[in-house]
Amino acid sequence: MKNVQSKEPIVIIGAGIAAVYAAESARKAGFDGRIIVCGDEREFPYDRPPLSKKVLQEPREVERISLRDNAFYVAHNIELRLGNAADCIDRRARQVVFADGTTLEYGSLLLATGSSLRTLPLLCPEMPRVFYLRRIADAVALRDALPNVRKLVVVGAGVIGLEVASVANGMGIDVTVLEAGPRPMARAACPTVCEFVVGRHMQHGVNIRTGVTIIDVTEISSGYRLRLSGGGTLDADAVVVGIGVAPNISLAHSAGLEVCASGVCVDGQGRTSDEHIYATGEVAFHYNARIGHAERQENWHHAVAHGEHVGRAMVCSGPDYQEISGYWSDQYDFSVQSFGIPIGEHDVVRGDVGSGSFVVFHLQAGAVKGVSSVNASRDMRTGKAFVRTAAKVPAAVLIDSEADLTKWRAAEGA
Ligand code: FAD
Ligand code: NAI
Repeated sequence: MKNVQSKEPIVIIGAGIAAVYAAESARKAGFDGRIIVCGDEREFPYDRPPLSKKVLQEPREVERISLRDNAFYVAHNIELRLGNAADCIDRRARQVVFADGTTLEYGSLLLATGSSLRTLPLLCPEMPRVFYLRRIADAVALRDALPNVRKLVVVGAGVIGLEVASVANGMGIDVTVLEAGPRPMARAACPTVCEFVVGRHMQHGVNIRTGVTIIDVTEISSGYRLRLSGGGTLDADAVVVGIGVAPNISLAHSAGLEVCASGVCVDGQGRTSDEHIYATGEVAFHYNARIGHAERQENWHHAVAHGEHVGRAMVCSGPDYQEISGYWSDQYDFSVQSFGIPIGEHDVVRGDVGSGSFVVFHLQAGAVKGVSSVNASRDMRTGKAFVRTAAKVPAAVLIDSEADLTKWRAAEGA
């Protein structure tokens, strides 16, 4: 067990969710030196999930999404340096060089640089009435534009695209979603949940078209005319693009750290190929002891849990990371929640999908390895407990809505 009580600073690059939780965790673990969190965004570190939800609907919501207030940073003696991007790492000098030419020495360095949006060359972010969604400024621009939009095209039926579609539909906007793949939310949800989500969008009048991409874009007086693969065109006053993200690995890559397409490679402590440099959150291709291999996660729970884990590990190393993560997505009047794997070898549905409240258990080799739900918090809680223990619950019990899963769990000790 390594204990760092040194005065050498912990420098954290990226002032997002993982960064803030890592800083707090390092302090809680007893680190008494300087902790400096450096972000390229000017805003106080903030929460991203509201950007595709309440921030688009309520003008003042943007003022409520700071992760922590100033008093927190003062109380924990965490320094914030905002609005200045880290440009490169000089590993020999243990120094970070920033865009404004300033430098900062580190004892330990944490990369928490998150991800960047994938963009479409035909609809790049600089074009008027084309919107992407990752940062506060993106959400504010979209929020301000939506009241003047009549026809919106959303490119990409992932979580972001579908959340925006539901908000826009709620504002009376005519929405079409174009998805390149065979089904929406394919990465994040099982076919049962996908079918339910698509059904709800259709009920609200949102048109979701799958297997379609945009092959040409012409500017017209009202916005854009989009030429679609497979033939036909679609006019839009505005376009929102949500086609996924890629980890921000360039800083690590140019410093010669081990990286791959999935992120900065780190061990179960969050340590990179340089023992003084760590990585956390969406940028990290991290070893997870529970599954026995490395993975990259793109969700809020992981950013928090991994940030906390690595912040602590930078101070005193303990067991390897072994959290299970999941996500939620709020659309219309329903919330999708998922924990563990989102699709199993065998999926078992509990409840009536048509009622709008149900759970899907994702089984692998007879064990519950994941659970997804729509508006079913109570069963979701028990489902998470099953996932944590990889419980072997008979499918007959799982699908029986009359069976009390909490009692079954208590009786079986699952
Ligand atoms: P980020 O939050 O992306 O933070 C990284 C920070 O580092 C950014 O501020 C970036 O600008 C900065 N940075 C990058 N490079 C540099 C550099 N060189 N120098 C200085 N700073 C740098 N998850 C859910 O589970 N449920 C949801 O409902 C949900 N909704 C979401 C809605 C939106 C619109 C978005 C964008 C994400 C949503 N997420 C959701 C995902 C969740 O917010 C992310 O997984 C989480 O933000 C990742 O945290 P992070 O700290 O790793 O990265
Ligand atoms: P995603 O990867 O979930 O979905 C992107 C979708 O776009 C996919 O269905 C893909 O097939 C489609 N696509 C890709 N290229 C396309 C093209 N050229 N034309 C049409 N469709 C195309 O990515 P999404 O939705 O952009 O979300 C990414 C980020 O969202 C994650 O990094 C994570 O941070 C965050 N997130 C958001 C949540 C939420 O909003 N509730 C929950 C969890 C994570």
